[in-house]
This record gives sequence, structure tokens and C-alpha cells, in this order.
Amino acid sequence: MSESVVFRDKSKLSPRYLPEELPHRQAQIQQIVHVFSDAAEDTDRFPLTVLQVVGIAGIGKTSTVIRSSKMIEEQFAKSRLVLKTAYVNLKLHGGNKYAIYRFLLERMAPELPGQGMSAEEMLRYLLIYLRENRQYALIIMDEIDYLIKTSKDTGIIYDLTRLNEFEPDKPCNVKGVIFIARSTEYYSRLDPAELSTLGRVPMEFSPYSIKQVSDILGSRSVQAFNPKAIGSDVIDKIASITTSPEVNSDVRYALDLLLYAGNLAESQGTNRVTLDHVRKVYGQVHPSITTEEIEQLSRNHLISLMALVRALKSSKKPYVELKDVRLYASEIAERLGMKKIDVEDYLDDLKTRRLVDIKSFKEIGLHGAALSEIEPVLMSKIKDDK
Ligand SMILES: Nc1ncnc2c1ncn2[C@@H]1O[C@H](COP(=O)(O)OP(=O)(O)OP(=O)(O)O)[C@@H](O)[C@H]1O
Ligand SMILES: [Mg+2]
Repeated sequence: MSESVVFRDKSKLSPRYLPEELPHRQAQIQQIVHVFSDAAEDTDRFPLTVLQVVGIAGIGKTSTVIRSSKMIEEQFAKSRLVLKTAYVNLKLHGGNKYAIYRFLLERMAPELPGQGMSAEEMLRYLLIYLRENRQYALIIMDEIDYLIKTSKDTGIIYDLTRLNEFEPDKPCNVKGVIFIARSTEYYSRLDPAELSTLGRVPMEFSPYSIKQVSDILGSRSVQAFNPKAIGSDVIDKIASITTSPEVNSDVRYALDLLLYAGNLAESQGTNRVTLDHVRKVYGQVHPSITTEEIEQLSRNHLISLMALVRALKSSKKPYVELKDVRLYASEIAERLGMKKIDVEDYLDDLKTRRLVDIKSFKEIGLHGAALSEIEPVLMSKIKDDK
């Protein structure tokens, strides 16, 4: 575990870490677990059940399904039964049906000879193995849309949704197959038989709201950061960036920002992550204010931007009000011996250029870039333009 004044445990922000708690996905977890709630009771009669989870990137689909599978395993364990989960990420595994089934076998029936069997024989063996060893299985096929778009092996869906038909008169010990996809676009590549066994009603995960992302990041931060190292200002700013259209609620990106901002604070020897750290790493990941863009701005634009930077700096908040920006703008203009300028017009234009983030007249902020970075650049440009 890494020790520092900033982090308590950095690894808790890693994409490989599956958090114990998934705020705002409890309902979905419950729903999935509920589908299998009778499976551990009347196991032989419980049919092979197919579920689909669909939603955009980074909104907790994989985490939710894996967390649910652990709870289903526990339900089985309570009934003194063994349920094994086989999780397959088809984007990572890629490849063909044969390689994927082989992986399933290795995961669930390790003693079996995989060599020299056809894909279909492998599934048949898997079913026999499970039955003879009184074990049950849940199969999770993640990123199925990727596989279907990139390979012709759509047969996987057909096979896995009909595992119960291999030996129709015997109970099928694979109790569930869960498919996860970003969208249902891949349906168009499936034939009617595949579509019908898949079932047409996926569980749709909706994107997180800004408040939900804040909650999620709050719960992740408690584990990852020392209590005094991070505040709600930083978390809210990251939540706001994360729910902007270009990031589209992707929590993976938010966790990266948290980690990089923490790393930056650590490398600077400070013990607290600030909004400036966040802006700086956001500026790097999304280089939204480049020197090239600054070159293209008129003097009035520059003064408006500079006024915003100063207002943000003195307030130490992620957003300031228009009246504050006006105040700083007239101060700068006066010092340069210029007429007052209509800040709103320039801010509006800066918004179109995606340099400034305007939520309302009371909430104006910067789109990325660290204040400490941008101020000297702006100042020297304003002076040059004289
Ligand atoms: N509700 C939540 N609470 C805590 N962490 C979350 C939550 N939702 C997502 N995360 C975290 O965000 C990251 C992305 O989540 P996940 O991998 O589950 O997304 P996904 O929907 O499967 O995305 P993709 O479509 O790109 O595979 C993970 O690191 C996960 O731990
Ligand atoms: Mg995923």
C-alpha cells in the first residue's frame, strides 16, 4: 500500500479495483440478484435465465454485474451449493468461439481435457462436468456488442442461450448467462433465432447525474485519500466535468482525474488536492486551452478570460458569478487605460470556443487548464498586444 500525505490507498482508484459499495446501483444489483433468488432454493427446476445489461461507457455495468454475481454465489453457498461465475471480457479475449469456450472450461472445469474437442463438444462436456460434480454456473459475457461487431461468431449467443437444449430432459446446471453491451445496435447483426433466445428487453442503465457522480466519487475518495487531503469542492468540480457532454458520465475518466490530481498534489509536496490540480490535469487530458487558441483571441477576449481567472483564483471556488468577472474586467481595463468592455459577450464567445464553462450567470468557470498555468500566458499576451 502506498503511504503518503495525500493518499491513504491509491489502488482504490484503480480500474481493477471492484468497490464493495456501488452507490446508485443498489437497485440494479437487487434486481439482478432477485432474478436468481429462487435458483439456490429449487435448483433443478430453476431454468437457464438470460439477462442483458445495456448502457453507455463507464456507468458501472461491469462492476454492478460482477458485484451481483458475488451475491448470487453467496446465496448458493448459504444453501450449501457451489455456484461458479465465469466472467469473460470479449474485447480482451477477442478471438473465436473456440477460444472463448476453452476459457470457460478452464475456468469452470479445470480437470477437463480441452484439446481436440469441437466448440460444441466443449459446451457439452462443461454441462456434464457441472452436473456430475454438483456445481452450478453463471456466465457473464461482457462487451458482447464488440464481439458481434468485429467477428462473425454470432453463434455464441445462440449456443449460450440454448445450453438447456443440449440435454432437454436433464436439468441444466448453467443457471444464468448475462450479456453486457454498450447499446443494442448489435441486434441488427443477429438473426431472428438469436434475437428471440436473447430476449428483447435489456436492463437499461442510465447515465449518472452530477449529484450521483459526486456521491460515487465521495465514496471512492474516502477509501483512496487521507481525510484532509480532498474536499467536496474538488469532487464537485470533477463531477461537473464528468457529466459534461464530452465525458458523458464516464466514471472511469472521473477516477483518472482524481488519481492524477492526487498524484500532482503529491509531487508538489502539498497535502491537499486543489481545484487548480484538477484543472491542470484536466487541461492535460483534455488540452482545452492551448497557446494556439490564446493566440487567436482578441484583446477583449483576453481581458475577459483574465478577469475570470482572477475571480476564480480569489474565490477559490470552481465557479464564480458574472458580477465578479465584471469587477475584475473593469479593474484590468482601467489599469491598461482602456474603455470598459461587455464581458458577457466575450465570455459567451469563449464558451463557444469551449474555453469557458457557463452554467448560469451565477456559475462561470474554466473548461480545464490550471489557473496557475494560464495566468502568466494571458498576461504576457495582453501586454504584447498593447
Ligand atoms: N456506482 C459506482 N460506485 C463506485 N464506483 C463506480 C460506480 N460506477 C462505476 N464505478 C467505477 O467506474 C469505473 C467504470 O465502471 P464499469 O467498468 O463498471 O463501467 P461499464 O459501464 O462497464 O463501462 P464500459 O462500457 O466502458 O465497460 C470502474 O472503475 C468502477 O469501479
Ligand atoms: Mg464494462
